[in-house]
Parts: sequence; C-alpha cells; structure tokens
Amino acid sequence: MRDLIQKMPKVELHLHIEGSLEPDLMFTLADRNNITIPYTSVEEIQRAYQFTDLQSFLDIYYTGAQVLQTEQDFYDLTWAYLEKARAQNIRHTEIFFDPETHTDHGVPFDVVIHGIRQALVDAEATLNISSNLILCFLRHKSEDLSSAWQTLEAALPYKDWIIAVGLDSSEVGHPPERFVDVFDKARAEGFLTVAHAGEEGPPAYVWQALDLLKVKRIDHGVRSEEDPALVKRLRNDQIPLTVCPLSNTKLHVFKHMQEHNLKRLLDAGLCITINSDDPAYFGGYLNENFYAIQEALDLSQTDIIQLAQNGIDAAFLPPERKAALTAELAAVFNTLGQGT
Ligand code: HPA
Ligand code: ZN
Repeated sequence: MRDLIQKMPKVELHLHIEGSLEPDLMFTLADRNNITIPYTSVEEIQRAYQFTDLQSFLDIYYTGAQVLQTEQDFYDLTWAYLEKARAQNIRHTEIFFDPETHTDHGVPFDVVIHGIRQALVDAEATLNISSNLILCFLRHKSEDLSSAWQTLEAALPYKDWIIAVGLDSSEVGHPPERFVDVFDKARAEGFLTVAHAGEEGPPAYVWQALDLLKVKRIDHGVRSEEDPALVKRLRNDQIPLTVCPLSNTKLHVFKHMQEHNLKRLLDAGLCITINSDDPAYFGGYLNENFYAIQEALDLSQTDIIQLAQNGIDAAFLPPERKAALTAELAAVFNTLGQGT
C-alpha cells in the first residue's frame, strides 16, 4: 500500500507555504536576516510544537514566519517545499500564502509574491510540477477589513499569477459572512474563491462560505458531518473538502486518527481530498498524511485511488491537464494496484 501511495501521481490543494518552513531553514534565515527567534536548537523547536488547538499553533506559526524577509527567502522556502513535493510524486500543487503575515511586518507584497512565483516557474521547468497560487486573507482581522481590502488591491496587478482567494487563521468568532464584500469584489475581478471552514468552527460557517462567499472548495470542512442537510448539499454539488489528517490530530480536532471521519464522508459520496496543511509543523508531508489515515482507518486501495482521483478532479486545472493526470494515475494503478 505504501508503494502505491508513494508512486501514484498526486495533487495537493491545501498547503500553506509558510507552514512548510522547516526548523533548519528557519535557523538559516534567522541568521541571514539577523532576527532573533525564541529557540536555540531544532530539538527545542520540536518540543515547542505540541499544540492544543488551532490558536496554539498559529501563535508559533506567525512567529516562525517572521524570519522571511527577502525575495530570496521566499524563493528558498518555496523551492524547499517543491523539492519535497517532487520526491513525493506530487504533480500539481495549489499553494496558499498569507500576505498580511508579512506586510504587517514591513515586507512588501511584491517581495513575497515575486519570490514564491519564481520558484513555481522554475519548478514547472525543472521538477515537472505545475502549480497555482491562492492568496489567503487573515480572518482574525475581521473587525477591521481595511487590511483585507489593501491586500486585494495589492494583488490586482498579479491577477495572472493568483488563481483564487481564500480565508485562513483563527476560525471561531470570525465567520465568513464578514468577508462577503471583499469576496464579491475578488470574484468580480476574476478570482475563484475558497475558504477554511468547519475545522474548529460550526457547520453554519460552511454554509456561509458556500452561500455568501461562493467558494469552489471548502478547506477542512470536517465538522460539516454534524449537519445532515449540509452533507447533502456538499454531495449534491460535489464541493470538494480539502482534508488534512495530521493537522486535524495535531490540533486536536480529532483526538486519535482512528476517530477521523474521513472514511464516513467519503462513503457518503463527498469529494474528499488529502492534503498536508502545514507539513513542517504537523509531522508529515502528503505521503505521510496518506500513510497515517490509510493505516488508522484501514482504507482500501480503491479508497486511496479515489482520494487521489478526487484531488485531480478538485484542482483548478483545465480539462486536458486533468485528463493527463487521470491517465497517469490509472497507469500506476494498473501496474501496481490491481487485484491486491
Ligand atoms: N487553519 C487556519 N489557518 C491556518 C491553518 C489552518 O489549518 N494553517 C495555516 N493557517
Ligand atoms: Zn489550512
């Protein structure tokens, strides 16, 4: 099974580039930029990565992100992720970035996006990985939307580089409805929309993301299961959920992987995909997420292939590229998977 997971062509749809910052690179960039971080060793960092909920993670994640200052830093961060992606046979990735995390500390939007973009262009040429970029607004700033509006304004010259806008950070108390005007404007400018919802927040937030923000995918969405009418809606409209198993257990959305509801949601006919969220913080990249959920829930080969196919189907890609990836997946299944 691990052989199949490793070798199958995969798509990743929920990956925060700032969440791929490994401790080694954090130290290198802190040194390079003369920034003090509250750790002296990799072991100390790893001890700090014991989270109790989403907020306890975000506090550490925003501190880590402050070592990112220059275009080269953003390039190095993104390139390191893409090399991991190549090693894991990820063929297409849709990457979130949080501009406000950087602009709030004086790093210009242009610096952030140019560094990330150059790595994506190079990866397409030399690592054979295609990609899209998704700009996320920080929802914990929902009291004062001027930051979100400024961020959208800054993104307009880069429309060709950014496929969609999303919503992340502290969920509870920051409902999607507060961002409806910003998202209306983003859609009018041609961006697709996604949103984190139903990770820690209630099903009502998922409804709002669907009905008010008109999202094409829900990021996480695991709490949707609490509302049968919502499950029906997600199934009927085949709205993908970008589920992140290791994130969910690290942040105590589920206490144990065996309690994860992914298999029930899959069996209910929802378009479930597997993703790594913040791999440097949650103990694994995409393959490790597949291994962990497969083993905990005893998923079959059919389930695994379905999850990989859902990733392809849910991507913001033209039909020809989806067809090519589907054919690659079928070829791997035919040589490795069939009959066992
Ligand atoms: N949820 C909300 N905000 C985030 C996450 C997440 O899983 N990762 C990075 N920012
Ligand atoms: Zn996320």
